[in-house]
Amino acid sequence: MISTAPRCQTEIEQPEPASPCAIAIFGAAGDLTKRLLMPALYNLAKSGLLPKEFAIIGVAHTDLSSDEFRTQMSRDIKEFATQEVDSDIWNWINERLDYLQGDFKDPNTYLELQKRLSGVDKEKGTSGNYLFYLATSPSFFKPIVEGLGKAKLTKESDEQWRRVIIEKPFGQDLDSARSLNQDIFKVLDENQVYRIDHYLGKETVQNLMVFRFANGVFEPIWNRNHIDHVQITVSETVGVEKRGNYYDQAGALRDMIPNHLFQLLALTAMEAPTCFAADAVRDEKTKLFHAVQAIAPEEVDNYAVRGQYDQGQVGDKEAKAYRDEPRVDPDSNTESYVALKLLIDNWRWAGVPFYLRTGKYMPQRTTEIAIQFKQAPFTMFKDTPVECLTPNFLLIQIQPKERISLQIGAKVPGPKVNIDGVEMDFSYKDRFGAAPQTGYETLIYDCLIGDATLFQRADNTEAAWKIVDPILEAWKQNKADFPNYTAGTWGPKSADELLERDGRQWRVMSVE
Ligand code: BG6
Repeated sequence: MISTAPRCQTEIEQPEPASPCAIAIFGAAGDLTKRLLMPALYNLAKSGLLPKEFAIIGVAHTDLSSDEFRTQMSRDIKEFATQEVDSDIWNWINERLDYLQGDFKDPNTYLELQKRLSGVDKEKGTSGNYLFYLATSPSFFKPIVEGLGKAKLTKESDEQWRRVIIEKPFGQDLDSARSLNQDIFKVLDENQVYRIDHYLGKETVQNLMVFRFANGVFEPIWNRNHIDHVQITVSETVGVEKRGNYYDQAGALRDMIPNHLFQLLALTAMEAPTCFAADAVRDEKTKLFHAVQAIAPEEVDNYAVRGQYDQGQVGDKEAKAYRDEPRVDPDSNTESYVALKLLIDNWRWAGVPFYLRTGKYMPQRTTEIAIQFKQAPFTMFKDTPVECLTPNFLLIQIQPKERISLQIGAKVPGPKVNIDGVEMDFSYKDRFGAAPQTGYETLIYDCLIGDATLFQRADNTEAAWKIVDPILEAWKQNKADFPNYTAGTWGPKSADELLERDGRQWRVMSVE
């Protein structure tokens, strides 16, 4: 009898609802709350993962009454929900919504918040368990944590937990990240701090660990003996849009590399954690970041490339030059594109380059990890037409398609031995057909149940900035020759040269 692998759909373990709690969202009148947090909370409610004893208090500077806030959220959810809104479920959330107008630097805001939270403990049974979500500009992270501390809102007991989610960017360089961590530790313990990176909420990103460590087939070849190099690409078809003010200060390097791309790098390259627990996973990430070869300031040009877009065409849209975007300095030296070559000094990866690139106004939106294996010797086929021989690579696509495919050479049918590249493909949607999510559901739920595996620890953030700091420093010293790529193209010529110098090239993506 032939046995087939069990399809264990019916045996999948169902998560339990979180324990009673209240969430206070700082920055509740902002974009993140309406676009992502409320839709994620709605999805959690729909999946039965929020407790019955639950409340949300929005806190923001904007002058709104609680009724106005509820009306605004009820309108926004229709626009931003990832699935059709069931009015019973939304009404259930709406009844648990409250709003507090206040200045984040004013101690009275926290005294008032304390009263409101005690109120919902009595009325809704939230049991004194509080999550504070800092969906604000980074300049408020420190004053909010201090304000919460002074109002004793962060003090835990055996029966009550207090946690804080901190959005990115976490610092703008190593010094500022260190000093923010130090300020936070005056008030909170590490186990109360959840530094969020929304890339870790993406199913395919989480699947990276399962893919590597729950399958015996890949790990033996996941090293310098078999892998030629790795390419990690996050390309976006949008420009800076309305975020010129923030982006012109940050740039592509700070905005994307020490957080999103480095999380992909860590999950691809780290060693297997001893168990699937927060500290074991985070220990491995930090170890990996520490193993990344430091780039000497005078060597930066050999390892890092920056670009800024000029006007062009992206799809059917006319795109302005970066320097003409609203709230951007017309002489801006800020990069909207970055490509890096990183080397990892450990036994697994010595000599295997990791090429990372990210940019705005690229021809295609994609997030992917392409692992290129070493060429077969091909000696057997040396007398046959083998123009199409391509190396094997494994492609892990995070978005917009969520899929994993392995490119292999196959014989083209016919009397001659012609070889062409074919793909073995797994698509998440085809196999699991999951309802669309925002990516924040798992992260919020994990925080509510106290699982920090998908969040960054202080040492992770600092180790990541340490890699990036010399590049930031070198770029600050030298003005770039911007603009140097046309919107709608794959970045500056120097990014191609970065790989050409090593006899390699970026994976060619067909524009769909
Ligand atoms: C954010 C950056 O963190 O991530 C944005 O600030 C970027 O500039 C965004 O556009 C990309 O996220 P996603 O999920 O669309 O790939």
